[in-house]
Amino acid sequence: MKRIGVLTGGGDAPGLNAVIRAVVKTADKDYNCDVMGIRDGYDGFLNPYGVVPLGPADVRGILPRGGTILGTANRGNPFARKLIQEGKEIVVDVSEQIIEGIQRLQLDGLVVIGGDGTLHIAMELFARGVPVIGVPKTIDNDIGGTEVTFGFDTALNTATEALDRLHTTAEAHHRVMVLELMGREAGFIALHAGVSGGADIILIPEIPFKFASVTQKVNERVAGGSLFSIAAVSEGARPAGGEQVVKSEGDAVYVPRLGGIAQMVGKYIGETCKTETRVTVLGHLQRGGSPTAFDRWLATRYGAAAVRLAAAGGFGRMVALRDAKIIDISLGEALAVPKRVDVEGETVRTARGLGISFGDA
Ligand code: F6P
Repeated sequence: MKRIGVLTGGGDAPGLNAVIRAVVKTADKDYNCDVMGIRDGYDGFLNPYGVVPLGPADVRGILPRGGTILGTANRGNPFARKLIQEGKEIVVDVSEQIIEGIQRLQLDGLVVIGGDGTLHIAMELFARGVPVIGVPKTIDNDIGGTEVTFGFDTALNTATEALDRLHTTAEAHHRVMVLELMGREAGFIALHAGVSGGADIILIPEIPFKFASVTQKVNERVAGGSLFSIAAVSEGARPAGGEQVVKSEGDAVYVPRLGGIAQMVGKYIGETCKTETRVTVLGHLQRGGSPTAFDRWLATRYGAAAVRLAAAGGFGRMVALRDAKIIDISLGEALAVPKRVDVEGETVRTARGLGISFGDA
């Protein structure tokens, strides 16, 4: 193994730089192997300035830094790229150019750090002969085959801190505070932060809710002498029989952008209960900032394991965490079924046992 590439794709997540650092250091020290950084996801292969050599000196000091020194793109699918040509929107396949770019660089392996979308592209490139290794990244924690993706823990801590802060002001003003959290179709951030931050109501995509059940919980608390309530609402949560709330519709190329459900829930509570209600959308604060120690530790282990896997020729595979050990699984296995909250599982049961409402009673 003489030279490998590394790229970061999709929405950023805290810990990307820790993976890049571990890839570069492990490749250099254990294999005397060069690393080429590919900028802005797969786009780097198309751009004349899109490839940069990365040595140990280039990754010094980046372990605690959020974002990614390589940049990323979450609208850069080489198999379906939207372009404007003669004033009209067209979708083109630039995958051949990407493959040529990889061949030109004579990469013995390409470490792809990404979520569902980026890893699906990696799997298609693998089928076309590209020696890819996947590293699972996303704050949503929705990749199959691994217990956890890096980035999730940091987002969870940010969300929990937000709930703690909302608690004090909610209590002071006798208000209902509704916090909208990210996660797309997976409710892990809202569920785990809701439990860790002592929420009274948790709404997640996996459990459709009823507005009347949400307000019943608020009213019960008031009747019991707790004049404030806290609701952690996943952006993908939906009322039973209703639709998710989107900021922008998706199409054949782009997924919809979710957002707005907390506003709807807050408005309903405000109008139905006698308690003043305020809504906070935590948004991209969940993606930014320095990774937690857990995410630095996990990201570093993933990065080092990805290089060892490349050296062993384990292409088309993804590093994963299972039973506290780093293992590797095929990208096909990882991506076959996206991970979702187990609605009958121990975490949901624990939350219900604590009296938390999922709005489905
Ligand atoms: O997948 C990560 C994520 O942060 C989701 O939780 C969220 O729905 C989406 O990305 C936001 O994407 P964007 O950065 O394009 O607004």
